[in-house]
Amino acid sequence: MTKKVAILGPGNIGCDLLCKCLKEEEIEVVMFAGRNYNSKGLRLASSLGVPITDRSIDAIIKLKNKPDIIVDATSAIYHKSHYEVAKKNKILIIDMTPANYGISCCPAINLTECIKEDNINMISCGGQSSIPICYAIKASNADLDYIEVVSTISSASAGLATRRNISNYINTTENAIMNLTGIKNVKVIINISPAIPPIRMKTSIFVETQQIINYQETIANIKLMSDKTREYVKGLKNIIILKSFGEKTLSQIEIIGSGDYFEEYAGNLEIINCAALKVIKNL
Ligand SMILES: NC(=O)c1ccc[n+]([C@@H]2O[C@H](COP(=O)([O-])OP(=O)(O)OC[C@H]3O[C@@H](n4cnc5c(N)ncnc54)[C@H](OP(=O)(O)O)[C@@H]3O)[C@@H](O)[C@H]2O)c1
Repeated sequence: MTKKVAILGPGNIGCDLLCKCLKEEEIEVVMFAGRNYNSKGLRLASSLGVPITDRSIDAIIKLKNKPDIIVDATSAIYHKSHYEVAKKNKILIIDMTPANYGISCCPAINLTECIKEDNINMISCGGQSSIPICYAIKASNADLDYIEVVSTISSASAGLATRRNISNYINTTENAIMNLTGIKNVKVIINISPAIPPIRMKTSIFVETQQIINYQETIANIKLMSDKTREYVKGLKNIIILKSFGEKTLSQIEIIGSGDYFEEYAGNLEIINCAALKVIKNL
């Protein structure tokens, strides 16, 4: 059955998601909504034949071709009000901002539970990349109680809203890792690299070496969860599955974008948008 989707927020995340949705036969984009007709994103959507508006969610809820799903790709401060409007109009909302309001969703972990909810939060790019690995490490080492997650993304792929939402990113990602893995103490760090050419998205996960009790089982579990994630994020690559450097043990992944909107360095857009697509297809 075709899923009717409206995308709210014509920035980096919104544009990449639009390009991905247009490749899917089972998804119809009924509207791409922003607040400025001259924005690059609305011009792109218009050139692709997608209905656009500069009247944000107000225009979406007035559509005759009513969407089943609104994807909120604006900014964390607007999400609560967007959710309230969507709820009143009986439209499910998927939140790409780190507003920490709806259920935290990482499809490899809790897809079935999430698709019963009317507000599904896709956490963050760092969350989508790290949670399956953190889950795998914790599953093999029950006493593990501290983990550190460091993601690096290119400045070129981080829009203004991403920069404004850095504190929300840290809090939302730390909470989601704690809740979805059971690890009590979590430290999340993000680097936005201005390097030219732009660097590929990488996530590094550190634990204390002494807390890895079942080394081989941990490796097997990381491979399993990575394969499960790769079912919907093809560009996920394990650079280092598990390696100890003295007191620290590291697992590192890289996400290669499919080049839908930005080039392949933008794995941060890729991983959260592929996760959202996985949710949409399963609704
Ligand atoms: N980029 C990433 O790597 C990434 C990854 C995962 C999650 N996220 C999250 O996704 C969100 C968007 O990030 P981004 O990098 O795409 O930022 P962005 O390029 O600044 O995009 C945000 C877009 O939303 C529009 N907008 C803001 N408020 C709106 C409203 N009330 N109604 C309609 N449109 C509105 C903005 O329009 P104006 O131009 O008029 O301001 C802009 O086009 C952020 O919360 C970010 O944390 C980003």
